[in-house]
Amino acid sequence: MSKKNIAIFVSGSGSNLQAIIDAEIESANIAVVLCNRPEAYAVRIAKSYDIPVEVVDHKNFSKREDFEKKIILRLEKYSIDLVVLAGFMRILTPLIVNHYKNKIINIHPALLPSFPGINSALQALDYGVKITGCTVHFVNVGVDTGPIILQSTVNIANDDTEESLLEKIHAEEHKIFPEAIKLFCEERLRIEGRKVLVKE
Ligand code: GAR
Repeated sequence: MSKKNIAIFVSGSGSNLQAIIDAEIESANIAVVLCNRPEAYAVRIAKSYDIPVEVVDHKNFSKREDFEKKIILRLEKYSIDLVVLAGFMRILTPLIVNHYKNKIINIHPALLPSFPGINSALQALDYGVKITGCTVHFVNVGVDTGPIILQSTVNIANDDTEESLLEKIHAEEHKIFPEAIKLFCEERLRIEGRKVLVKE
């Protein structure tokens, strides 16, 4: 089976990008890192590994669709099999979701369907749940609503702050995100309705 070309979309510090690089997934080739913020630390990480970087700054576009059209254009030459949203903080419209139908996966810092959207660790703390975690899911046209691939849990302690909780969540993200990418690239995931079946 040939390697799958993956595009990793980032906006921030890139700790998940680093975890994916470190995992050295045999079935995946990190073809490009795409970033919407030129100054993001993730860009530096990618460059330090000689991974091609494409920067498309969302601030240069008044319409989300135009931003996404530009991304699609920039990615054309990489023959992308999988788009990995690793802390990409832009909501995607149906334009790009349908262009890469069932080929976009996202990591979310909560146990979906609880606490979608932003500030999920804080939402969990404020709600008073005892367990939260992270979710890797396929991206559909809703916000954090696509079929779930993998989840991992984290216990919330009485003295957890948003920062300490995020640290625990990140540690789990760095395990399950590379694992989910590996499963996709080995063609072991099948979507059936809301469910994702994993081939052993
Ligand atoms: C991760 O915790 C990821 O779950 C979250 O952004 C962080 C990026 O960290 N994503 C979302 O909240 C998406 N809605 P990183 O840049 O260090 O990988």
